[in-house]
This record gives sequence, C-alpha cells and structure tokens, in this order.
Amino acid sequence: MSEWHMANGMPISRRLYISHKPSANKGSEIMDFGELIAKRYSVRAYRSDPVPEGLLEKVLEAARLAPTAANRQPFQVFVVSTAGREEELRRVYHRHWFTQAPLVLCVCTVAAQAWVRIKFDGKCYADVDAAIAMDHMILAAAEAGLGTCWIADFDPAAAREVLQLAEGVEPVLFTPLGFPADQPKPKERKPLAALVRRM
Ligand SMILES: Cc1cc2nc3c(=O)[nH]c(=O)nc-3n(C[C@H](O)[C@H](O)[C@H](O)COP(=O)(O)O)c2cc1C
Repeated sequence: MSEWHMANGMPISRRLYISHKPSANKGSEIMDFGELIAKRYSVRAYRSDPVPEGLLEKVLEAARLAPTAANRQPFQVFVVSTAGREEELRRVYHRHWFTQAPLVLCVCTVAAQAWVRIKFDGKCYADVDAAIAMDHMILAAAEAGLGTCWIADFDPAAAREVLQLAEGVEPVLFTPLGFPADQPKPKERKPLAALVRRM
C-alpha cells in the first residue's frame, strides 16, 4: 500500500470513516460553491458578538476534513479568545481589527509529521497542507455567515510566545473569526488569460 493510502502509518480503511453528511449544517440551505467563493472576502471590521459554538465546530470540522499530502494532517489549529488578550495579540499582528473579532484562529504546521517529496527534491509540503486547512475553514466560515481574513504578515516570534508553541510547531497563518461589520468591495483580479496557460 502506498504512503498516499496511509495515515500515521495506518491504512486508511482501518481508520474512522468520516461521514460526508454535513451534520452541523442540518436544516440550513447548502450554498452553491460559486456563490460561496464570490461571497468570501477579507473582513477587516468585526462585531464583538460571540461565535456560536456550533458554527465554530463547523469551521474546525472543515479543517479536519481538508486533504493533506499522504493524509499526514501535519497541522494544529489554535483557537484563541480575544477578550482580555487584545494587547498580547496585537504584538502578533498590529491591526486594530485583528482583536475586534471574538476569536482568532492560527494554523500551525508540525513539519516532522509532514509528507516530504524525498524521491526527488526533498520538498516539504507542510505549508501547502496548512494553507488548504485554512482555506477550508475560511470557506466554511463564509458559508456560515462569519468573517475571516488571511493573515501572513504577523510577527512569528510574538506568535510563538503568545501561543506557547512547542519546538517544531510553526505558526503559518492567522485569521480573526467573527461576524463582519464591513461590506465586501468589488473583487480585483487579473484576467484568466494572465493566469492560465493552455498547452
Ligand atoms: C496567504 C495570504 C496572506 C495574506 N496576508 C494578509 C495580511 O497579513 N494582512 C491582510 O490585511 N490581508 C492579508 N491577506 C488578504 C489579501 O490581501 C486578500 O485576500 C486579497 O487582497 C484579495 O482580497 P479578498 O480576500 O477580499 O478577495 C492575505 C491573503 C492570503 C491568501
């Protein structure tokens, strides 16, 4: 069996089967994927209203179901309540809206658990896995009416301190999580012709 069909050394078939039924979504309408990706935007103003536990679970479950190279799942998601921690969190990322939201999420990699392209060039895919997990959470949040903003421009040393990260656990991406208090702007994107090469 190839490493792509294993998880932590165990064949996938022997691991808990994950149902694709959106249990946390019971009763709510499933948004069309095109609508969802158009709806998501970088929210840079938040209401202080708490994030209902059910919606947080839905967001975190989206990270758990994210694909990772060789199914290694080499990431950890930190959920931080901002109340009372504004000052230390602002050392991590200085924008005032970062701590307006009731929660901040951080995706960290555990590179030692990640798949590495050993046969060819030794490239470690931990950051790619982390980005996919974050994207899943961000889209799940948008679907639930919650706002997020990808944040890479944070101080990694401050993040290590505030999250009390163990050695080998690296902070890769942050996002606030809360209800938006701003409005989306029109999306500015390059035309497809500038991004796609058909061969
Ligand atoms: C990997 C990544 C890192 C980002 N880092 C930051 C950041 O540090 N601060 C910030 O305000 N926005 C950050 N953004 C948000 C981008 O600026 C934003 O996604 C882009 O301008 C497109 O706008 P939209 O998200 O509203 O569609 C980041 C986005 C990505 C994907």
